[in-house]
Amino acid sequence: MSEPPALRLGVNIDHVATVRNARGGDVPDPVRAALIAEHAGADGITAHLREDRRHITDSDISRLMSELTLPLNLEMAATDEMLSIALRHQPHAACIVPERREERTTEGGLDAAAGHNHLQRFVSELGGANIRVSLFIEPDRSQLDAAKRLGAPVVELHTGAYCDAAIAGDGAGVEHHLRRLTDAAAYGASIGLEVHAGHGLTYDSVKPVAAIPELAELNIGHFLVGEAIFVGLQASVLRMRALMDEARHPMSTAAQ
Ligand code: PXP
Repeated sequence: MSEPPALRLGVNIDHVATVRNARGGDVPDPVRAALIAEHAGADGITAHLREDRRHITDSDISRLMSELTLPLNLEMAATDEMLSIALRHQPHAACIVPERREERTTEGGLDAAAGHNHLQRFVSELGGANIRVSLFIEPDRSQLDAAKRLGAPVVELHTGAYCDAAIAGDGAGVEHHLRRLTDAAAYGASIGLEVHAGHGLTYDSVKPVAAIPELAELNIGHFLVGEAIFVGLQASVLRMRALMDEARHPMSTAAQ
């Protein structure tokens, strides 16, 4: 069997900006957080520019683009405003997410199948500008097929339902959602998609997801920023990275 792809860690810094925005002003600075995450072993930085700018702002995106050496993954809704911002800044990647103003976080995946006509232009224009497009979807074959038809090279599987089951201590739910993620990752890779995953992951829930061999990237934010209050961001990123490595290479990390 061939080696699974290396598993990258994308650190989402949105909630550093949430804390900053609670008071206005400049601190804590999400760009400083991105640089610390980079130093701690993150492979990329993710930021979601929401329509209401509740966390990351336009000027954060400009600063991230000019100060980071890591690739930036811009999460964005499929709107003309966000498309023109993405085309102007040219991040390495753009992850198209569903967005409803009243939700507290991104509550479900995109309906790539039903939204085909609306999404096509965004996937084509971003891809045409050499921005690696991913679609944030539920772990369903029909969504993976739709992403493939749209020509997106990457999908990100929504891990929220799995994480909710883990927090609730619902063993059957964990097993069910993990099976969906595992099947979707294998199917996605088999039809030529690069498969990422994220949303709601913690130290306690990350390992079974990180062990799914077809996954190439996990995007994790809220838990890392929350944990940073207690241990610092460098330590929270380092620990998450170590857990991902242990899950992916159990033998070699046990021997160290
Ligand atoms: N991936 C996507 C597409 C997201 O929208 C989010 C949340 O912004 C995440 C990953 C990270 O989720 P969390 O902050 O819960 O770790």
